[in-house]
Amino acid sequence: MKYDKNILQNIQASDDRIPKRIYKDEPLTIEKLKGINQKYIGGGMSQNYFAIPWFEYYFDNHKFQYMVEFGSQKGCLSTYFANYAGVCEDMFFDTYEINPDKDWKNRTLEGCGHWFEKLADISPYINYFHDNVFSESTMRHVSENISQFKSLIFCDGGDKAREFNTYAQFCKVGDCMIVHDWNVELKIENISHAVQQYGFEKDEPFASSSDNLGTWLMPFIKTK
Ligand SMILES: C[S@@+](CC[C@H](N)C(=O)[O-])C[C@H]1O[C@@H](n2cnc3c(N)ncnc32)[C@H](O)[C@@H]1O
Repeated sequence: MKYDKNILQNIQASDDRIPKRIYKDEPLTIEKLKGINQKYIGGGMSQNYFAIPWFEYYFDNHKFQYMVEFGSQKGCLSTYFANYAGVCEDMFFDTYEINPDKDWKNRTLEGCGHWFEKLADISPYINYFHDNVFSESTMRHVSENISQFKSLIFCDGGDKAREFNTYAQFCKVGDCMIVHDWNVELKIENISHAVQQYGFEKDEPFASSSDNLGTWLMPFIKTK
C-alpha cells in the first residue's frame, strides 16, 4: 500500500502570527516550558507545559466523573481532556466556547476543533458546546451534571471570577473548581465570598504543586 502524498497539508499553525521553529537557535529549557501559551499536539494552549502532568496527577487523585472546561479557545487543552475521557471512559468531559469562529475552527491559528469534533463523534464521553457559560441552558446542563457526578469545574473563560462565583453554588462536598490565571487576572478577593459561603478551601498539596510548576492554576475543593 502506498500513502497518498496529496493529502498532506501545510495548514496547521501556518498563519504568520504563529511563531515557527522557535528552538532552532536556542535551547529548550524548563524555564521556557514554564511560560504560558505552549504548543501541544500541534495546536496551541493557553497553559504552560506543566499543566499537562499536573492535570494527569490531579485526575489520578480525584477520579472525577464529570469535568467541564469554560473557554475552549483553540481546543488543544480541550483535546487533552477529551483524550483522557476517551481513554479512561470513567469521566464525561464538556467544553464551552462562545466564539468558535475565532480560534476553535481556525487551523491556521493552531485551532484543534476539527480533531476534537471527530473525537466527540466517536466517544459518548466527549462533548462540546458553542454557547455562553452564563446562559440559562448552560447553567441548567452543567448543574444537572454536577448534581449526578463527582465533578470538576475548570474556570478558564472570559470572566473566571464570575464563573467561580456562579457555579460554586452547584457543587457538592468533594467537588472541585480550578481557576486559571491565578494572581494574574484574578485574586482571592475576587472569589472569597463564594469560597466562604459554599465551603471551599485550597486543594493541597495540588495548589502548592501548581504554584511550584508555574501553571497559574489554582484548585479549590468543597469541604463542607
Ligand atoms: C483563556 S481562553 C481559554 C483557554 C483554553 N482553556 C486553553 O487552555 O487553551 C478563554 C476563552 O473563553 C471564551 N469565552 C469568553 N467568554 C465566554 C463565555 N461567556 N462563554 C463561553 N466562552 C467564553 C473566549 O472566546 C476564549 O476563547
